[in-house]
Amino acid sequence: MTGKHSCLGLLVWALLLIQSSQAFFSLPSPWGYRCASQNGTCIKEEKTGISGFTTLAHCKLTCGPHGVIWPKPKTSELGNEVVQFLPSNIDYRISAHPEVSALLREALAVFKNNLDQYNPKYSDGTELWNDQYDSKTVAHKVFIDITVSGMDTHLTLDTDESYTLAVLTKEDKTTATIIASNFFGARHALETLSQLIDYDENTKTLILVSTAMISDSPAFSYRGILLDTSRNFISVKAIERTLDAMAANKLNTFHWHITDSHSFPLYMPSLPKMAYYGAYSASQIYYPADVKHVVKYGRVRGIRVLPEFDAPAHVGNGFQWGPQHGLGNLVVCENREPWQSFCVEPPCGQLNIANPNMYDVLGQIYKEMVDLFGPIDLFHYGGDEVNLNCWNTTDEVTDWMTENGFGLDEKAYYNQWSVFQEKSQDLLTKANNGKKVPGIIWTSHLTEAGRADVYLNPHDYIIQIWTTGVDPLIGELLDKNFRVIFSNYDHWYLDCGFGAWVGEGNNWCSPYKGWQAVYDNSPIKIATNLTTSFDRKLVLGGEAALWTEQADDAVLDSRLWPRGSALAERLWSDPDHNWQPAETRLIHQRQRLVQRGIQADRIQPQWCHQNEGLCYL
Ligand SMILES: *[C@@H]1O[C@H](CO)[C@@H](O)[C@H](O)[C@H]1NC(C)=O
Ligand SMILES: *[C@@H]1O[C@H](CO)[C@@H](O)[C@H](O)[C@H]1NC(C)=O
Ligand SMILES: *[C@@H]1O[C@H](CO)[C@@H](O)[C@H](O)[C@H]1NC(C)=O
Repeated sequence: MTGKHSCLGLLVWALLLIQSSQAFFSLPSPWGYRCASQNGTCIKEEKTGISGFTTLAHCKLTCGPHGVIWPKPKTSELGNEVVQFLPSNIDYRISAHPEVSALLREALAVFKNNLDQYNPKYSDGTELWNDQYDSKTVAHKVFIDITVSGMDTHLTLDTDESYTLAVLTKEDKTTATIIASNFFGARHALETLSQLIDYDENTKTLILVSTAMISDSPAFSYRGILLDTSRNFISVKAIERTLDAMAANKLNTFHWHITDSHSFPLYMPSLPKMAYYGAYSASQIYYPADVKHVVKYGRVRGIRVLPEFDAPAHVGNGFQWGPQHGLGNLVVCENREPWQSFCVEPPCGQLNIANPNMYDVLGQIYKEMVDLFGPIDLFHYGGDEVNLNCWNTTDEVTDWMTENGFGLDEKAYYNQWSVFQEKSQDLLTKANNGKKVPGIIWTSHLTEAGRADVYLNPHDYIIQIWTTGVDPLIGELLDKNFRVIFSNYDHWYLDCGFGAWVGEGNNWCSPYKGWQAVYDNSPIKIATNLTTSFDRKLVLGGEAALWTEQADDAVLDSRLWPRGSALAERLWSDPDHNWQPAETRLIHQRQRLVQRGIQADRIQPQWCHQNEGLCYL
């Protein structure tokens, strides 16, 4: 009997405790935040009844020269006050060319959806809106006034991505005025505006900085993320998330390394056998509608989707149908063993330069890609890691080399490789209705000291640097007037620092590149270090690469983010300081990405987000 009684008693006690603890937490927090204007730091203190305390969200939005805008804008002036408003009270006016307006309306839908994500939810999914707002909040209007003069709706290296954003509040109306010379600048302005807004936990409303004046433009025109979808397949949903996160960071190029020797997941209507032989499974294929969707999805978010067809190496699976269809071997060394002798990682494969049918198929692949991704302003030819021993140990290739009097030495192969590259460019130009676009090509044997300008015309080719940031070749390429994109693996390869996937130990480019290393990698400093003088315009920008030998949908977000954000501030703002002053904003940007559904890696305890500047060494 007694046992039963005490059990009941405990139950009642526990219920009371739960009720009272809920009541306790529904009170405003005992903690408040104050902006120390000397150093732009939010200080957490127990509220003592005196005014001057705000919520953390309010403090972060208004404290410091850039609040929590990421990447930091060129110039910004932010007021100390915020206004409360409800997302249903947003209205807008667009003054632009009809095609631009249509894109802007889509960008506004993205903007509004982002605001919806700021609102935290109870674990059962119900939203944490207040049921009794004060009349001031209910009445407050937010009006977005967008003026775009130009008609461009496709990004190029010359696109002016600048914008101005002015926020002004008069009584019960806040107006955000956006002026840009094209869609892309205006879209960036909307992103910035969304970063002047947050959810306020005390009032359970959205709050917006009540006055702001921002004038902004990027330091570099090429700001990219490379994603490899061949080593492992990445779903369209995960690619969408990647584009969402890129947009939140004003990155503008999604470099899609779509195929490689491992798999060929692209379905091309005129070459259906490629995916049939080359996809990992029937469900791991990008159909034309998927690709077009990704291209459109990117454009609305200010992102160019840049296709790469890596050749003549990094091909293999997918090309096996040649002999059965009377076209002969399109690829040689495919899956050949021991792989160490014929390629840099399993499985091997290289295009068969001795087979003219190979060029017909190549031309057709380009046609399909131009159709799917176009209009293109750039194309990535890959062009890395050709293994001469593969060709030189394949009778079909050596016979052809000998019969044509080319010989079999290194130089002969480099010559044929460059002939391949020339033919590729002609085929792509033909596929692109005669319009030549600059080609991007990785640093390789073809670009080594003394070679690049022998084999490649600086007018036609942009070189993407993947070697280290102290490679003297960088200086040489700039001296020879090549435009360059930095992806030096010692800072911008996001796949480094995990266990090896062939053999034991750590993978080849270990250690892991922390966000600080990503942030501090400065293309201009590197270039300045390696050549006496160079034309700043040759440095187009940079790109972080995620090769996916060890990544797929399950870990994609945490590999890319928030390190991709660190890259973005380097390329958008090119700060003259290192990572330290950016830390608290980066932590907040990471939180913003998580709010928007990106599973970004956690880099500090939440305590550091609430106690700015105290997690230092
Ligand atoms: C190709 O093989 C021949 C021997 O068959 C050799 O003489 C030549 O040096 C090789 N070429 C390269 C680039 O290794
Ligand atoms: C400049 O070059 C030196 C020597 O290679 C190297 O130690 C240093 O880290 C380089 N600085 C930058 C910014 O790349
Ligand atoms: C910023 O300034 C405030 C007020 O002077 C000070 O208490 C705080 O320690 C400073 N924080 C940092 C990170 O410098």
